[in-house]
Amino acid sequence: MTKATDQDRVLIFDTTLRDGEQSPGATMTHAEKLEIAELLDEMGVDIIEAGFPIASEGDFRAVSEIAERSKTAVICGLARANFKDIDRCFEAVRKSARPRIHTFIGTSPLHRAIPNLTQDEMADRIHDTVTHARNLVDNVQWSPMDATRTEWDYLCRVIEIAIKAGATTINIPDTVGYTAPMEKAEMIRKLIETVPGADEVIFATHCHNDLGMATANSLAAVAGGARQIECTINGLGERAGNTALEEVVMALKVRNDIMPWRTGIDTTKIKHISHRVATVSGFPVQFNKAIVGKNAFAHESGIHQDGMLKNKETFEIMRPEDVGIAGTALPLGKHSGRAALRDKLKTLGYEVGDNQLKDLFVRFKELADRKKEVFDDDLIALVRIEEDDE
Ligand code: KIV
Ligand code: ZN
Repeated sequence: MTKATDQDRVLIFDTTLRDGEQSPGATMTHAEKLEIAELLDEMGVDIIEAGFPIASEGDFRAVSEIAERSKTAVICGLARANFKDIDRCFEAVRKSARPRIHTFIGTSPLHRAIPNLTQDEMADRIHDTVTHARNLVDNVQWSPMDATRTEWDYLCRVIEIAIKAGATTINIPDTVGYTAPMEKAEMIRKLIETVPGADEVIFATHCHNDLGMATANSLAAVAGGARQIECTINGLGERAGNTALEEVVMALKVRNDIMPWRTGIDTTKIKHISHRVATVSGFPVQFNKAIVGKNAFAHESGIHQDGMLKNKETFEIMRPEDVGIAGTALPLGKHSGRAALRDKLKTLGYEVGDNQLKDLFVRFKELADRKKEVFDDDLIALVRIEEDDE
């Protein structure tokens, strides 16, 4: 198990403003980044990765201003494995009360081939750059990019070097969403068991969603001993995205019986930040997205609506209020039944008897066959027509 004062606590590291913004077309303005950082801080995110300071003047300014303004969260910037990146990153995060430098290098054979470094040359680079970062700040995160496709012995070797050079968090990225839950859990467990000094640092998990397994892989990593989950709001991120913050946080909350770890997130703030990230990034949330999709707490079929009217636990495993959604929705459509129609009419101020309900239900079904959703105004019109006919 990795170092942490409280072994039940999982740190939430949000990278919406860095990995999320790397999503093609998701660029945010300076003001929008400040707003999202403030919302992340308020909701209890432990570490905010605010950007990649060397990438552009705009990123540098955003990271510096977020560092200056943030109240509680650790503010982190990303840097490649060279002194120039690390120095620029330090300049950006230094005004934070709790700055972190996150430096990384691709360690798999495919990634080592790009700078054309031998294993030994890369190991030396890792030693020198982590040492340099640690001379600037106390809080240094190191990532072997593409860890899940790196040779096991080499991965253990470079992690040991990074720990000895002063890294305080070791992140294990599944850069291309290649791993699977059983493999990721076992990998973290074995790393913690094998690498000398591993019990002195926090292990983190950073998953991408190329095979749709980012949430499952992140939770498996925690089961294996990781105590920091890297994620983004709405799962925004490169290609198929990153682990969605709302999914891991709610999974840990709802299934705490089998996953006994907690986060410090105020879950009632989830819906609002999800909406703001969708708006500023221009990436709408799919209707059936877990937790924050428009349909996540909506029930249209007759059987489901009838069940929900009798007991909400029949078809909901969490309360919409717990994620900041006003309540369950029972939209009326062609699959809806009489119970939901009667309930809706009641909320609109119409108490109807059984015979009137029977007639209205026939008219309602005719209309629902023609329309995707029957709205309040449609129902009021139906009641009026029905009353005129009597
Ligand atoms: O996916 C990845 O490997 C990354 C690293 C920079 C941590 O985003
Ligand atoms: Zn990533």
